[in-house]
Amino acid sequence: MADKQVGKEKRLTIDELATFCKRKGFVYPNSEIYGGMSGFFDYGPLGVELKNGIKQEWWKSHVQQRADMVGMDGSIIAHPKVWEASGHVANFTDIMAKCGKCGNSARADHIIEDKAKVATAGLNAQQLGELLVKHKLKCARCGSDQLRIAQPFNLMFKTTIGPSEGSESVAYLRPETAQLIFANFRLVQENARMKLPFGIAQVGKAFRNEISPRDFLFRCREFEQMEIEYFVHPNKIGSCPYVAEFGDYELNVLTSDMQKKGSNDHKRMKVSEMLDKKTILPWHAYWLAFEHRWLTGLGAKAENLRIRQHVQTEKSHYATDTWDLEYDFPFGWKELEGIANRSDFDLQQHIKVSGKDLSYFDPETNTKIVPHVVAEPSLGVDRTFLVFLFDAYEYDVKRENVVLHIHPRLAPIKAAVFPLLSNKDELVAAAKKVYDELRQEFNCFYDENGSIGRRYARMDEAGTPYCITVDFDSLQKHDVTIRDRDSTQQKRVKIKELSSVLQQLLSGKKNFGEI
Ligand code: GAP
Repeated sequence: MADKQVGKEKRLTIDELATFCKRKGFVYPNSEIYGGMSGFFDYGPLGVELKNGIKQEWWKSHVQQRADMVGMDGSIIAHPKVWEASGHVANFTDIMAKCGKCGNSARADHIIEDKAKVATAGLNAQQLGELLVKHKLKCARCGSDQLRIAQPFNLMFKTTIGPSEGSESVAYLRPETAQLIFANFRLVQENARMKLPFGIAQVGKAFRNEISPRDFLFRCREFEQMEIEYFVHPNKIGSCPYVAEFGDYELNVLTSDMQKKGSNDHKRMKVSEMLDKKTILPWHAYWLAFEHRWLTGLGAKAENLRIRQHVQTEKSHYATDTWDLEYDFPFGWKELEGIANRSDFDLQQHIKVSGKDLSYFDPETNTKIVPHVVAEPSLGVDRTFLVFLFDAYEYDVKRENVVLHIHPRLAPIKAAVFPLLSNKDELVAAAKKVYDELRQEFNCFYDENGSIGRRYARMDEAGTPYCITVDFDSLQKHDVTIRDRDSTQQKRVKIKELSSVLQQLLSGKKNFGEI
């Protein structure tokens, strides 16, 4: 399928983005040569660069640049007691609808939302069952009207450890990275000598046996999370020393009260207004605004983002309040990042089940306390990948090709180097020399195939912000042309200054007009 001609005003469907991603080498369906595996994907040459770029940018701004944050990297399989203590063994379930005739199963809320176009957030099994009957919803496989609510389905992937197959060897792949942070809380805090308030961050794989994986990378069975558990003294959960920085910051807001009144439309509000109305606690507001600023700073469009508070019945078993940072996907407003207030639920659970002391010694009062997680910013890498691609994608009618306006810091290839003509040995040699030097510092690409126009077009589609051409003047004057992806403007730059010019452009210290 050819790429859709989508300008700034119209947007791609998720299937069109998936097609583009496969064609350009961003993402492939997993095991495609054997018929594929639903819910699993492989990242290609451009995709792995973009994905790594997202994780590196996140780590830099959330861990490296913050004195109140430290990182860790836990294992994917942990002691099964971890998941009993966390409540995942008992509660991490989705409600299924099963066809009484052919046995086909699917998520009940998905069937209702897709077919009856009714919002299902927070509905229990009985309410979902009533909606199936009320809207006379039929089985997608055999068409029968015998769809009924089935046993809840636990989403954790089971595996066995070692050669024995008894129940004592059963373990789970982690469905979230968070629990490794709680299980290691005491060690991390003591080793890094962290003082409250502080956060522990982790990036890594998570696995969920989703009943119906769908919408490309949006709902997969293997994905990655960038998570923080932010710990605060229980007596200080009501005030956040950093929130003033975001007083005037504006967000699109949909509160649980607005939803209770039947509205699904958000309102633009300042953080200070939300705090004045006591719609949200200060730490929670701070982290929502911080995450929003990080996403928009790297190219997500503010008009496609909103924060939505969970309604009472929708909250996870561990949460006292949850806000989702939602993105306006082509299939509706959906969760990009969940930010829950987990209180002291997890630490208390692990203290109870393990019998170990996971408390914090407060040097101010000389007492032991159990900190509260006032906010758990939990962002999916794969969903963030989708968001940055959706908001970068434009079919440029004048250029007659796709231009990915991806932020230079995230661009998979930072610069491409071309000889003007591929049949002139002296141009090829000079271009290869420039390329060899630049790629010691940046991810670069060398291309001598096709016309310069075609080479620019290929790099526009890959999101490469700068293309460098070596021409005949370069041989005399020791300079090159550098072309800006977004404006298509070109400038001449001395070869000896090229690396520092690129550095300034990529870091945002200078824009193209200033060089
Ligand atoms: N520790 C909290 C937690 O895991 P969550 O809302 O279940 O919260 C956090 O997940 C984020 O992980 C989501 O906002 C989403 O970005 C990502 N995520 C969750 N399930 C996913 C799936 N099946 N496929 C892709 N990403 C997923």
